[in-house]
Amino acid sequence: MFNDSQFTVITGASSGIGKATAIHLDKLGFRVFAGIRKEADGQALMKEASDRLTPLLLDVTDGNSIAAAVSTVTEKTSGKLLGLVNNAGLSLNGPLELVPVPEIKKLMDVNVLGLLAVTKAFIPLLRKGQGRLVNISSGHGLLAIPDKSVYAASKFAVRAISDSLRVELRPFGISVSCLVVGKVDTAVLGKIVAEREKMMKDAEPEITKLYSPLLEFFDKEVKGLAGISPSEVGKVVAEALMKKKPKAQYLVGPGAKKMKNLARLPVGLRDRLMYKAIYGKR
Ligand SMILES: NC(=O)c1ccc[n+]([C@@H]2O[C@H](COP(=O)([O-])OP(=O)(O)OC[C@H]3O[C@@H](n4cnc5c(N)ncnc54)[C@H](OP(=O)(O)O)[C@@H]3O)[C@@H](O)[C@H]2O)c1
Repeated sequence: MFNDSQFTVITGASSGIGKATAIHLDKLGFRVFAGIRKEADGQALMKEASDRLTPLLLDVTDGNSIAAAVSTVTEKTSGKLLGLVNNAGLSLNGPLELVPVPEIKKLMDVNVLGLLAVTKAFIPLLRKGQGRLVNISSGHGLLAIPDKSVYAASKFAVRAISDSLRVELRPFGISVSCLVVGKVDTAVLGKIVAEREKMMKDAEPEITKLYSPLLEFFDKEVKGLAGISPSEVGKVVAEALMKKKPKAQYLVGPGAKKMKNLARLPVGLRDRLMYKAIYGKR
């Protein structure tokens, strides 16, 4: 079933969803180029995978790194790619007033500009392989809720890019799927809590106090909600890469479906429900 044309690149494979997906695809027989930024992360991955897996140094915010990755993949594949999985991403929560602008730029650089630059660079290889593009978005890319303006903006952008490219790349036989992912148990959840603590420490106490109901609501939410395992996302990525007719959108995890249903409500009702949930009044 698998042959030399099963080459797939995945970004952000050092941990979490990217790592679990790289290992899952490797087990299925794919020839995975696993994007990492540190050699040590590549070595760790190789211990858990077959010798089909190749670590690929790839910082999605660095044009030289992207160009070098494209050269490496071109050399090792005779220029044909079955799949590109855009997974690398940062998270950033918090009321906009408390979020530092450099952090906003950093997130947009990875989640949006990096994804665009990597995709653009690999399109010629995907065209030769009549391949598949798989983008990782989030429930926050379907429904923008308070505390998540920056992250939601980036994940709405991932959906927009997927919708646009799906038709643009169709003449070349390239399919585009977008995964709308709910909560997954990865290191990102610890990073969110740590970032939140730093943000509160750096902010003026009287401004933080203004947002305390919001901050308390989302602190409880991030700790309380059960997440799925990252390998569950890997299985859906594999489906998007292997199914004869991959879906335009995959909802992964129960949170994603809930977000989709809430997003369908009239805006006024949705806003009132969210407000009541956070502040306990209409
Ligand atoms: N976990 C969730 O609940 C959840 C839900 C919905 C969507 N998602 C999305 O799923 C994706 C993976 O998240 P995760 O939860 O698995 O988080 P994670 O464990 O923190 O993984 C993030 C990955 O992105 C990589 N990365 C960061 N900056 C990069 C850059 N400049 N160039 C290349 N790679 C970079 C990281 O590499 P380093 O180790 O080198 O930093 C790491 O491999 C993200 O797009 C996230 O938004 C996650």
